[in-house]
Amino acid sequence: MIPAIRGTHDILPGEIERWQQAEQVVRDVCERYGYREIRTPVIEREELFAKGTGETTDIVQKEMYAFEDKGGERVTLRPEATPSMVRAFVEHALEQHLPTVKIFSLGPMFRYERPQKGRYRQFHQLDVEAFGVADAALDAEVVEMAAALVAALGIDDAEVVVNSVGCAECRPAFGRALVTALGDREVDLCVDCRRRAAVNPLRIFDCKVPSCQPIVDALPHATDYLCDACRSHFEATTGLLEALEVAFRVSHRLVRGLDYYSRTTFEILGGRLGAQNALLGGGRYDGLVRQLGGPDRAGIGFAAGMERLVLAMPDGPGPRAPDAFIVALGHAAREPAHLLARDLRRAELAALIDYGDRSMKAQMRRANRTGARHVLILGEDELAHGSVTVKHMASGAETLVRRDDVVRRLTGDPVPIPPEPAAASRLPVPKTAV
Ligand code: HAM
Repeated sequence: MIPAIRGTHDILPGEIERWQQAEQVVRDVCERYGYREIRTPVIEREELFAKGTGETTDIVQKEMYAFEDKGGERVTLRPEATPSMVRAFVEHALEQHLPTVKIFSLGPMFRYERPQKGRYRQFHQLDVEAFGVADAALDAEVVEMAAALVAALGIDDAEVVVNSVGCAECRPAFGRALVTALGDREVDLCVDCRRRAAVNPLRIFDCKVPSCQPIVDALPHATDYLCDACRSHFEATTGLLEALEVAFRVSHRLVRGLDYYSRTTFEILGGRLGAQNALLGGGRYDGLVRQLGGPDRAGIGFAAGMERLVLAMPDGPGPRAPDAFIVALGHAAREPAHLLARDLRRAELAALIDYGDRSMKAQMRRANRTGARHVLILGEDELAHGSVTVKHMASGAETLVRRDDVVRRLTGDPVPIPPEPAAASRLPVPKTAV
């Protein structure tokens, strides 16, 4: 046996129904907020993420599945979708084709992280991005949409957390304030944090090492260093969130682990998820489009971990029970049974059938295991009379139904009662079902 790679997982029948349900909700919510679906390749140039996600991030430094392809080009499996979405926005000049560029994508991402509950090396994201709008009204709408998505999935213990990380104007002052505040405690930080302090002090907030936490907790808050424009943007965003009745908490530690953010950052945390509790995260990234070679356009979005959404969702309905299981008795019934299965499926019913000439008992046992709502029996007698025995499994009631009426019987359409031969010429045919 060759097992799956560590940190990857199969999504099996029994579990896939929850995924399909989640994906359906995701698509409905995206459509309601005006987002159109796009699909981008899972493999991209490594440079896109080095420039986009950021050289100083853990993702680029430690977690990318990057390699040289056979043509000598540096490529990588995508660790996140945002740089790809920006690339597609620029490469296809999407703003010339769409009235407002609001796009979403669903698909696998790859990060070489230490696997644990809710954290995988191949995982799936819903990624949502909107381009070209700098107005704080969109920040509030995006956060409200993310909260609406979580609620639509039936997750009722989630918490919305927001922050502002400022812009290129005010962030350097905040970085300096962090270094000053660290002072001689810098030597007590972990190796990674000491590197971060030198390269990008904001990244210290990403640290999960327990001994760093008291030091990180005592650091200054980004919101105290915002320039006037960033401050009023943050106030407008939080004000509108209140007006939209979104419950949220401001957390100064929420700087997010990616370099491109400016101003608003946010996450939604799930209550039952354990250590990996971020259901989704995102923010504004007004400089990224230009940084990746595009026009100077604002951007904002978020990505949700589908595994985590599915984990946090309450139990939904199980898989759809088949409408019918066809039991064919004897060789002569095989072909008519397959024809009946075809007709049922053409009528959009889920129909199962057994293969090979097995006993009635064996076929009934399988029918029971499938949970089929009806068993349709085709034996010698039924064949001789052009009929089918329809057994309603919940009640056990058996009815002999004309072969031509079986589909209508199962779809719930009225099946006309055949007129009595003697009365046929005088009485009108009743229109009600049997
Ligand atoms: P991120 O915070 O790196 O942001 O990931 C977003 C979400 O993806 C997380 O909140 C989590 O639910 C899920 N996730 C991340 N890593 C893993 C993993 N190893 N296993 C399972 N789930 C995971 C981004 O990716 C940004 N591109 C979000 C964004 C979009 N910002 C603006 N637009």
